[in-house]
Amino acid sequence: MTRLSNEGTQVTLRWNDGTSSCFHAIWLRDNCRCSHCGEPSTGRRTLRLSQIDLSVTLTDARLVQSGSGECIRVAWSDGHQGEFGTVWLKEHAYDARSRRMKSFHPALWTNGLRENPPSMPFEEVMTADSAFFDLLNIIKNHGLCLVDGASASPGTAEKLARRIGFLQTSNYGKVMDLIADKRHRSMANDADPLKPHTDEPYRASPPGILLFHCVEAGEDGVGTSTFLDGFEAAETLKREDPEGFSALTRNNQTFRRFFDGDVDLICEFPVISTDQFGNVCGVRVNDRVAAPTCIDPGQITDYYRGMKRFLQLSEDPDRMIRKILEPGDIAIFDNHRILHGRTRLKFRGRRWLQWVQVERGDFYSTLRILSDKLERNKDARPLLRGAYGSQTLNQ
Ligand code: OGA
Ligand code: ZN
Ligand code: ZN
Repeated sequence: MTRLSNEGTQVTLRWNDGTSSCFHAIWLRDNCRCSHCGEPSTGRRTLRLSQIDLSVTLTDARLVQSGSGECIRVAWSDGHQGEFGTVWLKEHAYDARSRRMKSFHPALWTNGLRENPPSMPFEEVMTADSAFFDLLNIIKNHGLCLVDGASASPGTAEKLARRIGFLQTSNYGKVMDLIADKRHRSMANDADPLKPHTDEPYRASPPGILLFHCVEAGEDGVGTSTFLDGFEAAETLKREDPEGFSALTRNNQTFRRFFDGDVDLICEFPVISTDQFGNVCGVRVNDRVAAPTCIDPGQITDYYRGMKRFLQLSEDPDRMIRKILEPGDIAIFDNHRILHGRTRLKFRGRRWLQWVQVERGDFYSTLRILSDKLERNKDARPLLRGAYGSQTLNQ
């Protein structure tokens, strides 16, 4: 059922489930799906907003059956006519309820998941689209998936990463060799344990999806990898201390990587990013590279209390997956959600991890293309935005 407002400024559609969504005349005109106004199959625009009169109104709107299914046929005051499929309209509805439904809801880690972390076999993931799709969905929903049974030879992580998307370049290039060797001690293979952290939070866009591949393991189980759900920790903080949580979403932390004469990367983003509904959608946790906090003095007490508790939660052994990566094991995780670290290295023998990164936009692009190809769940649409700041900032 459709109902046109008196002035023709908007039309309301009632869906079969009893809910309704409203569409503005200007929004419909701007998004006209006809071939004069754009390319209906890709959504690319020919008609541009600069050509449209903002006071355009609807002179007619009616529900009709066309060759491609149920649609509404509309006419505007500028003389143009168009048709919108109701399925397309439902998918693009922008009322509060629809926007909330489209927002991303992660599956937070439970003890069950920590005891039995999701894993997929390498060969299947590389050769079968459906297994690869499962892998991408696990990473999307849980933030981490282990891949086992791969070859231990260098270059394996890169092969899998290229199936997901373009490789991202980091401080160390495209493929990073993390070699802890007692003969070649350096900064990069310092023996000290690494607390769970976000990699490169001092970048405007930190690495998205990280892959760690074990080429050689050290002796005696040295360097156990640790993983922790930053979203679960953030939700726990929100429950325990709403003001402390809010201080971490509303104020920016300054991060800095500085080597004299070589590199000076600085950025300011909240430690916890939230979407427009206040859902956690990204974390940047790495107090090793935190520059002096520069926020409203009135926020300092809440900020420090929230930060201290959040760091405690992110170092909580009961929240961690602990896994000794064996040759051929790969861990894939979302750097904007999962904190990673490792225990102390002992420098007996050699521990060699190869490490590559994929940009998160490419990861989601591959997921959507594959979900269309396999005609599997269409909810590949909602994008987990990542740690790019809070949309609720001014509310
Ligand atoms: C790092 C890191 C992991 C490891 O150097 O940032 O996370 O297992 N290393 O050595
Ligand atoms: Zn048109
Ligand atoms: Zn790291």
